[in-house]
Amino acid sequence: MEFHVITLFPEMFDSPMKSGMVARAIKAGLVSVTAHHLRPFGLGSYRQIDDAPYGGGSGMVMRPEPIAAAIDQVIGEHPGLWRILMTPQGEPLNQERVRELANRHPGLLLIAGRYEGIDERVRSLVDYEISIGDYVLSGGELPAMVVIEAVTRLVPGVLGNPDSIREESFSDGTLEYPQYTRPEEFRGMRVPEILLSGDHERIRAWRAEQALARTRKRRPDLLARRKSG
Ligand SMILES: C[S@@+](CC[C@H](N)C(=O)[O-])C[C@H]1O[C@@H](n2cnc3c(N)ncnc32)[C@H](O)[C@@H]1O
Repeated sequence: MEFHVITLFPEMFDSPMKSGMVARAIKAGLVSVTAHHLRPFGLGSYRQIDDAPYGGGSGMVMRPEPIAAAIDQVIGEHPGLWRILMTPQGEPLNQERVRELANRHPGLLLIAGRYEGIDERVRSLVDYEISIGDYVLSGGELPAMVVIEAVTRLVPGVLGNPDSIREESFSDGTLEYPQYTRPEEFRGMRVPEILLSGDHERIRAWRAEQALARTRKRRPDLLARRKSG
């Protein structure tokens, strides 16, 4: 799976891609992450990227030409990438969408905005728009990293134990059951006896029940979506 990002801050992608699961996946050749600097596509001798908004208002807006030129170059060199604009106005990211993205071969081209946002006409150049939540960040780099990490976990071979994907939160429209490890007692709180019983059938039933109860209490919206879906 190839990830490409168009960004004004390619150096932001250096260190997060050097640790943990994504680093191991890159090393194993299962994924690649390439950050493409937008600045060289800027206009004139100052490599201008942004300009004042038509109609007035605060802040600067990213011009469409540098982004279009960067997209053309990356797609020219890596045909078939799915072009995604990172924007708080996009489709909210959830595990179902992450699964869809993981099936997009050969990979994703993520476009990270900055400033007050991006000229509206750039939307006609992309296949999809993604928001990572109802809050506003200063740039699309962290959202792009969120997409890279969430999708990489689903690339076959990346996680040692594929069962962990099947069981974790959101995989079947519920939150995950409560997890415990040693010690058996911590500050007066004991691990539920059933988990120590060795009875795998009862443990499975208990976990399913707990997952449902927890989802009902914390995220009833997930259950409502599961019913209507
Ligand atoms: C300051 S934001 C622009 C917000 C824009 N003025 C608006 O109200 O929709 C700058 C850039 O950060 C990125 N960004 C900020 N919040 C985001 C979110 N929740 N999801 C995805 N991208 C986000 C986008 O790429 C956006 O172009």
